[in-house]
Amino acid sequence: MILCTRHKDLARIMAPGGRRCAFVPTMGALHEGHASLIRKAVAVARDRNLDDGCVVSIFVNPTQFNEQADFTRYPKTIEADLSLCEAAGASVVYAPGVEDVYPTDEGVEVPPLPAVATRPSLEDALRPGHFAGVCQVVKRLFDLVRPLAAVFGEKDWQQLQVIRAMTRDLRYPIDIIAGETIREQGGLAMSSRNVFLSPEDRQRALAISQALCESWSAKTPADAERLMRSELEKRDLAVEYAVVRHAESLEPAASGPHRALIAARMGSVRLIDNSEWRPA
Ligand code: PAF
Repeated sequence: MILCTRHKDLARIMAPGGRRCAFVPTMGALHEGHASLIRKAVAVARDRNLDDGCVVSIFVNPTQFNEQADFTRYPKTIEADLSLCEAAGASVVYAPGVEDVYPTDEGVEVPPLPAVATRPSLEDALRPGHFAGVCQVVKRLFDLVRPLAAVFGEKDWQQLQVIRAMTRDLRYPIDIIAGETIREQGGLAMSSRNVFLSPEDRQRALAISQALCESWSAKTPADAERLMRSELEKRDLAVEYAVVRHAESLEPAASGPHRALIAARMGSVRLIDNSEWRPA
């Protein structure tokens, strides 16, 4: 596995013209959920005979944090991250500093935000500017890495839809592939932010995946939303949203495919999760 910290070195070691790798962008603090995305990208690269294999980026992107404190305390575990990437089969890790991604002498474009990024009461309403930062960094990384395919986790369901729409709008020839959510025992979705949960909070956080399961007994999206909210509030989680939306457009919709989506806070820790939803 090769480690690059500058995009010039990345360009030197990768096939001229690009489109010979599968890519997994991350912000580090990697866990089994990321390992599964990397293994998926390794399999894609093998099946499609991509000589550059799987490239992983590790970069905590400052432009997508709407709270400075969240950015400052984001866990950094680079040595463990590199071991995880190697064990999962990555060929190259690109772990740049801010200067390499956002050079001061070169403006880095923020692409137009797809409509799915700004659906009322979802991420954008609660984290203004977040998806502008995500789109900015992902476009920049796509331009530097030039992958043929990129794998994003389903846990960040709205992000996955935003990246799909952005890639389509930019007419980038990149196949966006979804990686399933990996869960801890008990159902809590793996997240780099779980390290901030106390043992008691970790127990209470199980209410999130339980609320998603509860929603499967509802006959309508409105009933599903009521059930999820009540399950979360019973365990004293501060609900930011608990909704059922169209799975791709994320608009309220009478007919599916549907997705149930939750964001809830436990003190200063914000957790999100989602699942498929069908009327019972
Ligand atoms: O999902 C993440 O970890 C980040 O939003 C991403 C896609 C790596 C962009 O910084």
